[in-house]
Amino acid sequence: MKPRYFIANWKMKLSPDASVKLLKALAPKVKKFGQKVELIFCPGFVALAGCTQAVKGTALKLGAQDVFWVDKGSFTGEVSPLDLQTIGCQYVILGHSERRKHLGETDAMVNKKIVACLKHGLTPIVCVGENWEQRQEGQATLTLEQQTRNCFQNIMLKNQQQLIICYEPVWAISDNLGERQISAADVEPMVEVIKQGLYEVLSVDQVESSCHFIYGGSVDSGSLNNFLQLDTIEGGLVGAASLEAEEVVAMVKILANR
Ligand code: PGA
Repeated sequence: MKPRYFIANWKMKLSPDASVKLLKALAPKVKKFGQKVELIFCPGFVALAGCTQAVKGTALKLGAQDVFWVDKGSFTGEVSPLDLQTIGCQYVILGHSERRKHLGETDAMVNKKIVACLKHGLTPIVCVGENWEQRQEGQATLTLEQQTRNCFQNIMLKNQQQLIICYEPVWAISDNLGERQISAADVEPMVEVIKQGLYEVLSVDQVESSCHFIYGGSVDSGSLNNFLQLDTIEGGLVGAASLEAEEVVAMVKILANR
């Protein structure tokens, strides 16, 4: 059976101390689910090194929220994929809509970052998804096709390399939500669009066995089951609801029981 993915995106919301504290509180509570669910936590960069100590010997794994595409050099403020790998980080969130919006991150940058991650044994968690205007203008499918094509162009997967692709409509993220609700029926065709894009660069076998599709945007213990009803969805990228230990445990239990 394919693993399920629980991925916590802590954004810039927890201090290093609070990050370590939450990981330590969670480790014993989710231990027994570690066989069935990949338990991935993505703290801020400053917290990351301290968190590697907190997850040692536990079922918890660490991811970063971004990375640069070069290993070493004159790149002020950037973070090396080599350094992430060295400290024990295993995953990296790439192309999150908040980075696209506030920092001008482009699909071309995401593409270079995917290559750098794969080179260093870091599994990319690539976020794609349309914003509200694009959806209103009937451009959602086109946006997703373009993002998928540009982010994954010329990507090659070797040996055990995996890709996690998160369909995260920008308008469904809890901070942007307003009155807008998303249903599983909205998600299914969009994941299919992403899959079709991936078939252009990877073999059918690679897409089926090495690409994992998750959903992100206001996921919590109340909504997670809806998305898991879809055969293609293997887990969730969770922001706000991943900041509370009890919510995390509830979501991990749901994932383990699917
Ligand atoms: P949310 O955030 O779960 O708070 O909507 C998800 C994300 O932005 O990755």
